[in-house]
Amino acid sequence: MVKVIIDDIEVEVEPGTTILNAARKIGGDVVPPAMCYYSKLQGSGGKCRTCLVEVAAGSTADPRPMPKLVASCSTPVMDGMIVKNKTSERVYDNRAAVTEFLLINHPLDCPICDQAGECHLQDLGFEHGKEGTRYEEKRRTFDPIDIGDKIKLHMNRCILCYRCVYVANQLTDKRVHGIMHRGDHAEISTYIEQAIDNDFSGNVIDVCPVGALTDKTFRFKSRVWFLKPMEASCECTKCAGKAVVWMFGDEIYRVTGRKDKYGEIEDIDGKTAWICNECRFDKKDKSQWNIEGPRVINRHSVIAQNQYLVDERLESKKLTGK
Ligand code: SF4
Ligand code: FES
Repeated sequence: MVKVIIDDIEVEVEPGTTILNAARKIGGDVVPPAMCYYSKLQGSGGKCRTCLVEVAAGSTADPRPMPKLVASCSTPVMDGMIVKNKTSERVYDNRAAVTEFLLINHPLDCPICDQAGECHLQDLGFEHGKEGTRYEEKRRTFDPIDIGDKIKLHMNRCILCYRCVYVANQLTDKRVHGIMHRGDHAEISTYIEQAIDNDFSGNVIDVCPVGALTDKTFRFKSRVWFLKPMEASCECTKCAGKAVVWMFGDEIYRVTGRKDKYGEIEDIDGKTAWICNECRFDKKDKSQWNIEGPRVINRHSVIAQNQYLVDERLESKKLTGK
């Protein structure tokens, strides 16, 4: 085991553990945000730079600080490493800059976006966003497209995190979409707008950190915070049948996987409980589910209602305008 100190808290982890996962072992606000890393998807991470942290000492053997901030999702800990996340002003300022970059092209259409309330970029914008934009050029724009009859792609909102590509690679038997082109032309596409029509394709909706991939059976039906999330299970031959059904009265408005506090699908009985398309899109009748009880949403987000802890640095920056 190796010892690492993150924001003055010591933790012991297996060699090879990343800084992000060591921080998750501690929990709370020591944990850096992650827009592209997803622990259940192999190879994810290293794309968005929201998880940057400061390494104040590299290791016991070489205690020099690392000159640049590092991506905590892809940097392994070393014995004696000292890491700063919430205790570093540099990290805070850089995260604000990354947020500003991500928002260059991402539209501020939260009032009409189905992801509002669950969007990681909305949370990041709330905590680090600036009131205005310095960007004068035109934003890149794409027409929304249908990817089959159940999934809508709003490429304008995509932050190119690659999570949906990894889902298609690792969960379905034939990936028919990917990221085409480079730079500001890069876009998620099936090229010929084919349906993504395999049993687990709907999971791209659950992993998308923003509102780029949304559920067409739920779009514009309700704001998520008006719905009651309930843990539910069903007999399913394709998946474990363990989901969250989002209800208004007796009606099921949408079905999602069970997400943990990092917005990732939980493990149940040692296996990640991805849900199949039949459970997600076709079982909207209460009689098809065994409702187990209310689901507590413990994510640090609008959906968790009244759980925003406003960072005093944010408040002072707003007041001073810096
Ligand atoms: S569509 Fe969503 S999940 Fe896919 S790359 Fe874009 S932001 Fe990531
Ligand atoms: S979560 Fe680390 S770079 Fe995106």
